[in-house]
Amino acid sequence: MAEGSGDLTADGEREGKYVCKNRDICSKEEEERLERQHFWKVIDAFKYYRIHIQERVSRAERQFRILPERQRALIPNFLPNLAKIRQCIDQNQEVLKAIVRNCIHMFENMEYGEDDEMRKVRPSSTFDMDKLKSTIKQFVRDWSEAGKAERDSCYQPLIDEILKIFPREKCDVSKVRILVPGAGLGRLAWEIARLGYACQGNEWSFFMLFSSHFVLNRCNKVNSLTLYPWIHQFSNNKRSSDQTRPIFFPDVNPQSLPADSDFSMAAGDFQEVYTEPNTWDCVTTCFFIDTAHNVIDYIETIWNILKPDGVWINLGPLLYHFENMANELSIELSYEDVKAAILKYGFQIEVERESVPTTYTENERSMLKYLYDCVFFVARKPARIYYNGDGSHLEENNRKKARNQRYDNTGMAS
Ligand SMILES: C[S@@+](CC[C@H](N)C(=O)[O-])C[C@H]1O[C@@H](n2cnc3c(N)ncnc32)[C@H](O)[C@@H]1O
Repeated sequence: MAEGSGDLTADGEREGKYVCKNRDICSKEEEERLERQHFWKVIDAFKYYRIHIQERVSRAERQFRILPERQRALIPNFLPNLAKIRQCIDQNQEVLKAIVRNCIHMFENMEYGEDDEMRKVRPSSTFDMDKLKSTIKQFVRDWSEAGKAERDSCYQPLIDEILKIFPREKCDVSKVRILVPGAGLGRLAWEIARLGYACQGNEWSFFMLFSSHFVLNRCNKVNSLTLYPWIHQFSNNKRSSDQTRPIFFPDVNPQSLPADSDFSMAAGDFQEVYTEPNTWDCVTTCFFIDTAHNVIDYIETIWNILKPDGVWINLGPLLYHFENMANELSIELSYEDVKAAILKYGFQIEVERESVPTTYTENERSMLKYLYDCVFFVARKPARIYYNGDGSHLEENNRKKARNQRYDNTGMAS
């Protein structure tokens, strides 16, 4: 998978470029071949969208036409609504085309070849189409006025905590390095950078990377673009027009960061990209830790990359992403077990709220809504860590206790 970094700055001159590194699981050549293949598969998904969704509308139309005449006469708005959906699909496809047009050369040190407009687009899997639909909804969450309430419930608690721990009036926040793994379309990381912190978002999915690159680097006019994120929802609509209502983005100019801001996006698997120990003052995770095959690996990585006295701020549920995927490792732990592992690792939990209600890409007019009862916590890596002979560590508070234990066990004070 590609990963990299690039400045996505306010001046609009410098272009956000992403740097690619490779992991060492198979040969470098094989790795690059697979990555190229994946890259073009995602591009194809962006291009195939229109055909896929139009077919869904055609199905609705076919089924309507099967109805007896007298029943069809009862719902005169049905076909006009489908016609409207078709127009919305075309508009969505225009935005998706613009995203793809802008992503072919977005990586600094990885080329994927040239796009051939004449190349026949291959059909995409339902799985990839679902990802694309989720990506479209992510624009609502991150970059529309309609997503403000959701951002206030998810991002604001994290931002408030950052402001409390690293107060702008007391420290040079440009030196405070904050990492946002699983950054999605980048709004949280962007907001943190807007406050003056040095912030890097990290993302792994090409769907998200292409889209964040587009919004952060190519969009500078407020609410100049339109998407119809709810047209894919055929159930639970109170009014037909709810399905075809637009959202406008970006609700702010993404290129309006202060000129001296330090904001970047890095592409790649969080665990592979961030191996340098003691480098971050703060790791902020939002709806992220349940994307792990093994959440303990994430805890370990966060522990490793935080500087001593650094903090991990988390908000999210535990909807384990790999739970229902055959042949994928998925360790599903309760919050109780996650917390126990965090504490055993040596973190000190300074703030904990076990019930923070939030939504995720919610359609506010839908008759079906999901409410996440999230956990929020701040976990600090102690300033001083003492290492045992066996390579394990003990944070300062537990040191005395442990010393006594060791005294008990070995009969020798350490
Ligand atoms: C549920 S989304 C949350 C996105 C964003 N934080 C938000 O709150 O809107 C999880 C994100 O993590 C990304 N992700 C999953 N595994 C990852 C990994 N190993 N490294 C980096 N990003 C990853 C996904 O692509 C997805 O965009």
